[in-house]
Amino acid sequence: MFKLTAKALACALSLSIAGMAQAADPIVIKFSHVVADHTPKGQGAALFKKLAEERLGDKVKVEVYPNSSLFGDGKEMEALLLGDVQLIAPSLAKFEQYTKQIQVFDLPFLFQDMAAVDRFQLSPEGQALLTSMEDKNITGLAYWHNGLKQLSANKPLREPKDARGMKFRVQASAVLEEQFKAVKANPRKMSFAEVYQGLQTGVVNGAENPYSNIYSQKMHEVQKFITESNHGVLDYMLITNTTFWNGLPADVRSELDKIIVEVTAEVNKQAGALNDGDKQRILDAKTTEIITLTPEQRAEWRAAMKPVWGKFQAEIGADLIKAADAANQ
Ligand code: LMR
Repeated sequence: MFKLTAKALACALSLSIAGMAQAADPIVIKFSHVVADHTPKGQGAALFKKLAEERLGDKVKVEVYPNSSLFGDGKEMEALLLGDVQLIAPSLAKFEQYTKQIQVFDLPFLFQDMAAVDRFQLSPEGQALLTSMEDKNITGLAYWHNGLKQLSANKPLREPKDARGMKFRVQASAVLEEQFKAVKANPRKMSFAEVYQGLQTGVVNGAENPYSNIYSQKMHEVQKFITESNHGVLDYMLITNTTFWNGLPADVRSELDKIIVEVTAEVNKQAGALNDGDKQRILDAKTTEIITLTPEQRAEWRAAMKPVWGKFQAEIGADLIKAADAANQ
């Protein structure tokens, strides 16, 4: 009798020790992304890790996987839904499977500068997009800037007709496909990790990205020209799995929410300078000529690409396009 009780006691004790160990295990947050560390998103992920671990000590452990080392951009969304990662920040061009509305950000020549992008993201319409995918178990936590996109190629692109027949790499976005079709070029969807090689081998001969992505992926080494077109925006939505986020202990979640506000302010403050720095580094590398468009040339690109808005108006919603356009004033 005594023996049994002692055994039961030992068993109960070991179970409760295991339980305690479990309770003390930190919550692991995997943050996967596709860019280099020295980019707006890369720096944001690193700062999030630093602040979360400083402030939540043993409760939270953040693992950052840059450069598509855990999941490439074709797989990261699925991984988030399966619970294999807890935070990702895809570019706004990569949401069309989940909502058509976010396509608004891809419309060419919609935003006159990053201040307008910022105003729209902070507007009630922009903020509503963060929660627009909760029925799909995706919660948007913040917008992070990268910056305006430039066209890169192995030939000078000054007028829309210069792009005719060229093969441009695009993100997985129907709007971006149409944008290049509008100048009679051939868009080709390709994941970010494949772009350098695609350009090097000639599978594609042009691309579009902000300076920070061009420089950090060494794309300038395989592109002789960059046209400073500022024709569209490449920003991110930091997203999480809704079930995961809502299931976090309240104190942990509220601290993480505060940290995200801080990190977002820092990312958005630094992104412009980071892109400017990378533009200068590209100039210093002397591999690539940067072409500045005249106002007339830029107006031609705008006129050629703007009809794309009409093609997506029904999917995106005329009111949303109007709200985004209103952020220019
Ligand atoms: C791209 O695919 O070009 C970008 O979305 C990569 C990124 O995350 O900045």
